[in-house]
Amino acid sequence: MKFSESISRITVSSTAAVVAKADQLKASGAKLVDFGAGEPDFPTPEPIKKAAAEALHANFTRYTPTGGIGDLRRAIVERHARDLGSNYKPEECVVTVGGKQAIFEAVCALIDPGDEVILPVPYWTSFLDIIRFPGGQPVLLETHEREGFAVRAADVERLITPKTRLIIINSPSNPTGAVVPRDEMEKLLALAERHHLCLMSDECYCHFLYDGGSPFSLGASHNRENLVVVGSLSKTYAMTGWRVGFALGPKELVSNMVKLQSHSTSNVTSFVQRGAVAALTGPQDSVEAMRAEYERRRNRIVAGLKALPGVECAMPGGAFYVYPNVGAYLHPGFDVGQFANQLLDEALVAVVPGPAFGTQAHVRFSYAASLEQIEEGLTRFGNFLGKLQAVRSSAQASTYANA
Ligand SMILES: Cc1ncc(COP(=O)(O)O)c(C=O)c1O
Repeated sequence: MKFSESISRITVSSTAAVVAKADQLKASGAKLVDFGAGEPDFPTPEPIKKAAAEALHANFTRYTPTGGIGDLRRAIVERHARDLGSNYKPEECVVTVGGKQAIFEAVCALIDPGDEVILPVPYWTSFLDIIRFPGGQPVLLETHEREGFAVRAADVERLITPKTRLIIINSPSNPTGAVVPRDEMEKLLALAERHHLCLMSDECYCHFLYDGGSPFSLGASHNRENLVVVGSLSKTYAMTGWRVGFALGPKELVSNMVKLQSHSTSNVTSFVQRGAVAALTGPQDSVEAMRAEYERRRNRIVAGLKALPGVECAMPGGAFYVYPNVGAYLHPGFDVGQFANQLLDEALVAVVPGPAFGTQAHVRFSYAASLEQIEEGLTRFGNFLGKLQAVRSSAQASTYANA
């Protein structure tokens, strides 16, 4: 069989590979500490489950409009308006199978072979493959750990060429947790307007901000003709397996996304959409409860990682990831992929190695895990680093002895 050029341009998600290996170990009875999976460890709140179950029992089981039932599109734009100050209309909203499908559809609707897409590094792993699938050319913007992985509009502007079509920003970021400040986001949008480009703002983690920061969306800007906002219920309401996300954008872009969806997945599962309406219109206290718990966990895990010799760690301002630099433990013949594999095999701690996100000396910890698991994971991680250090010191000692 001969496969298409587009499918040959992409690889299997490397985060999915780590999750699969961790699941295998768990199934074999191993007592794993899992910092690999990027998903909430909380159950979906009861009222959401109840609404979906009721819809199922009421036989709400047929096809729905491709872009989502009217109630859900209204619920999305109303919740967005109330929490984040935007004023989208339901026809500027498409409901997708997770935020991931929204990104995929928007990129496919905008990108032709050879078009350039500016993407800051570290990036969420799927962005790169999604850009490549229709033949887009990722143009990577380096950011620096010592600056908290800050993304600046001025640096983005330097990468713009006549082939640039799209800029992708993800704040708070997966994998670093870095937050792009509101004024910088606005500068990015102004830049997109000036150069007649589209800016995609992936705001899937916008409700998980720490240190007193309040959630904001670029969607609240006056001029949003060049903007597509991607959102998701996966993280906000602990609904990863339900597969509900959305995009908000200009009507023409949204209808092109719906066109693509009409020939692929069609609608998000009918009764799931009713659960999503309940999530958005019901009480929101579970979101704040999860946010507060993530902040406690962030404080503990970052303090624990920073206390380890040779580990550098920028403070994440949001999401539930931390991205420490373990470069001090790497050497030729022992890269960060081998580091993460050994950590999993020997210490039973799952993390995702940096190459999945475009860097070579980091590992991503997802702290969507209980405080007890975090304590246990930090102890195991510290012991693992200690052993690596001891092996290295004795190798150096024998090199000197033999010299
Ligand atoms: C930055 C980012 N965007 C989008 C998604 C997609 O999430 P979902 O498809 O579950 O909504 C994820 C999931 O991990 C993510 O981290």
